[in-house]
Amino acid sequence: MTDNKQIKQNKSLVFVIATIAATGGLLFGFDTGVISGAIPFFQSAFGIDNSWIEIITTAGLVGAVIGALFSGRIADIVGRKKVALAAAVIFIIGAIWSGAATGPVMLVLARLFLGVAIGVSSFAVPLYIAEISPTKSRGTMVSMFQLLITIGIMVSYLSDSAFAVPDGHPDFNSCWRPMFYVGVIPALIMFIGMIFLPETPRWLISKGYEDKCREVLQKVEDPSLVEEVIAKMKADIEADKANKVNWTEIFKKWLRVPLIIAVGIMFVQQFTGINTIIYYSPKIFLMSGFADAQAAVWASVSVGVVNVVFTILSLFMIDKLGRRKLYFIGVTGLVVALIAMGTCFALQSTLGDSIKWVTIALIWIYIAFFAISLGPLGWLIISEVYPLSVRGIGSSIGALSNWLFNGIVAFTFFKLVKGLTLPGSNIILNGEDLGNPAGAFFLYALVGILSLVWGYFYIPETKNVTLEKIEEHWRKGTQPKDIHK
Ligand code: BGC
Repeated sequence: MTDNKQIKQNKSLVFVIATIAATGGLLFGFDTGVISGAIPFFQSAFGIDNSWIEIITTAGLVGAVIGALFSGRIADIVGRKKVALAAAVIFIIGAIWSGAATGPVMLVLARLFLGVAIGVSSFAVPLYIAEISPTKSRGTMVSMFQLLITIGIMVSYLSDSAFAVPDGHPDFNSCWRPMFYVGVIPALIMFIGMIFLPETPRWLISKGYEDKCREVLQKVEDPSLVEEVIAKMKADIEADKANKVNWTEIFKKWLRVPLIIAVGIMFVQQFTGINTIIYYSPKIFLMSGFADAQAAVWASVSVGVVNVVFTILSLFMIDKLGRRKLYFIGVTGLVVALIAMGTCFALQSTLGDSIKWVTIALIWIYIAFFAISLGPLGWLIISEVYPLSVRGIGSSIGALSNWLFNGIVAFTFFKLVKGLTLPGSNIILNGEDLGNPAGAFFLYALVGILSLVWGYFYIPETKNVTLEKIEEHWRKGTQPKDIHK
């Protein structure tokens, strides 16, 4: 076979591999999104109050933190593939358990269990894809993970609305069960697909399986680079051995910069407020003046669609424009959208009802800028910046930070909205005082502005740089902003 033909064939194979592995992202998105639509129904079925709802929602998040915390080391020991397979099994059992829950305590336990799989797959899948992809398309391939997260969120919004029934319907107290059961389908696809996928060449060589590693690389990498990549990986492993690198290395000085990058990018991703829109958009649309709940739900579906469409666009840009450019374009755009959104809400009573159309347009713009930048970049960068010997644990620290920050934002949003409401700007809906989200959006914009400065120093341009070369840069003490091919 000619080299060109081989390159083409390998490219398609990597695409298939990345798509199958990325079903882990679909489950991540689906299982985080599914709860919002199911809440009113199981709340009625179990006769529970809002504090139970908070506990049930938090359970999934706590599970994700536990999953991300413990599986990093395990992935370095038993391999990336086995960990992804285990996550698929937990997804299957967790979905059935959640749908079959007979009471709130059981639902808490089921969501906690399912959360573990969300946490595990949130780091194991991008890691798997980054390690198996050829350098030139690594960004695009890992962004497939983000694409499937966004598709998962959209599918969960749509599937929730398909199963939902109106008040008084005989299935009102049970229609939430199939909402959870649907999650079994992608979990089965992931499980069956993953059985056929190879282990990553980088993990294989780290365990001394050089022949197997070469076999996999020949199927996925540009043939002219295979031996070079193997030689480089071996040299890194030797260097790690000579320096007695083990997992505690992660906290040493030469890896301080990747640690700041992994935790920092997740801080920026979460504290610019993305999940206030993803989790609470029906509420935000109600605040912006869409009177009925039905319209607000459809407005949320529109958020899901914009998120998917612009994530697709990011696939084409990430390995061309590079990480830094996308970061600056994305964060600048979303800061402007946040300030404009805040201004609309602040002036809502003066500007009148038609302002709601401007608000919804601004929310779409905000989501679009997130989708081309911080969405894919967060998961991509945490899978790239760590040296092989600590890559599992390193990226799990990134994932763990993501879930912690995610939780903090989700659980402080409404308190923040109330606390930062300017006197006289309160939005009253059906007699309930909702406060005004303007102040919260201004605060997220401020985080965004500071993130631009942080990003100038800390976002590395890893486009077209091999994972091995990135490691070499840290050994030499290169500053992130000076990294290049
Ligand atoms: C974030 C999630 C977010 C999603 C939205 C992901 O990259 O980690 O917190 O809900 O993007 O698309």
